[in-house]
Amino acid sequence: MSDSTITPLTPVRLGTTGPEVGAQGFGCMGLSDTYGPTTDVAEARATLERALELGVTLFDTADVYGQGENEKFIAPFVQAHRDEIVLATKFGLGVSPEDGARTIRNDRAYLRACVEGSLTRLGVDVIDLYYMHRRDVRVPVEETVSAMAELVAEGKVKHLGLSEVTAGELRAAQAVHPIAALQSEWSLFSRDIEERIVPTAVELGVALVPYSPLGRGFLTGSFVNAEQELGEGDFRRGQPRFNGPNARANAALLEPVRKIAEGRNATLGQVALAWAQQRSAIHGLTVVPIPGTRSRARVEENTAATRLVLTDSELDLLAPIASRVKGGRSADLTFVSAGRE
Ligand SMILES: NC(=O)c1ccc[n+]([C@@H]2O[C@H](COP(=O)([O-])OP(=O)(O)OC[C@H]3O[C@@H](n4cnc5c(N)ncnc54)[C@H](OP(=O)(O)O)[C@@H]3O)[C@@H](O)[C@H]2O)c1
Repeated sequence: MSDSTITPLTPVRLGTTGPEVGAQGFGCMGLSDTYGPTTDVAEARATLERALELGVTLFDTADVYGQGENEKFIAPFVQAHRDEIVLATKFGLGVSPEDGARTIRNDRAYLRACVEGSLTRLGVDVIDLYYMHRRDVRVPVEETVSAMAELVAEGKVKHLGLSEVTAGELRAAQAVHPIAALQSEWSLFSRDIEERIVPTAVELGVALVPYSPLGRGFLTGSFVNAEQELGEGDFRRGQPRFNGPNARANAALLEPVRKIAEGRNATLGQVALAWAQQRSAIHGLTVVPIPGTRSRARVEENTAATRLVLTDSELDLLAPIASRVKGGRSADLTFVSAGRE
């Protein structure tokens, strides 16, 4: 499936009152950050334009990506296409200036400083979808969502989202203000949210935005051992699933993905994305995966996956994979909802 003819992505609504977006979004993080230095900046910028041409409208960033640099990187694109895109960014995760450790803050004063920073860096006067990126357990979630709702009332933010919260936290938040989307890791390799969080999102009418739907690239088969194959500064070099014996064992799990891809004249990545997209029909909720890439050819490949529908027997082949994955989905599980459930 490599043709790049432009078939509009199906429009879907995030939450009951949220924005309408194309059924696949775009994760901007890797354009300038996290997966090593960007060697071809012009191509990365052209990838954003190509995504929009292909019908992608939801563009996702966060203030912590490159400590503001990712928001600045996408700002010219955002400003050029302000009315054509749905702009999502996040607050709550930071980096300590003292030791570079990750920090989590959800208090009102921090939130208010963060939103002003994001608005300035992005060069916009309103954020379409503003997420709490990580949950600071020192602050009741109701308190944070109330403070986020003030931003909606003030016109700085249009819709609210949460990332990596538990089912209970999602329910408590929704009681304060409508939550358009929950962003969590969801892929062939990461299915822990299906037990409690997805059913709660279904019940509450909250859309799911799966992040890292390509398993940070691992599901495309483009690398096995991050430490040996990926460059300095690549976040994946420190992740348990992509290194040492875990990486070898996990690469072997891709065999059914490869088999299906061969049979459908598709790539492994397209099978992984089709699987994520089909969570929508299977679980009965809106699902908008946000794969990220620095390349136009790959965004064409990724959006083409929205036209691949896996059969029941193909889905059955893929079903056992997640339970066999070796290594946690984060080096530090206190940073994800699975660490609190
Ligand atoms: N809420 C959160 O806590 C959280 C956490 C992580 C990510 N996110 C969001 O989710 C977005 C996506 O997640 P992600 O970037 O971590 O992971 P991902 O989309 O699963 O994978 C991205 C990686 O896959 C590679 N890739 C993309 N398309 C490919 C293709 N067709 N063939 C081969 N390789 C391909 C990319 O490399 P190239 O760039 O070289 O193509 C990149 O290294 C991020 O951009 C960010 O917006 C949110």
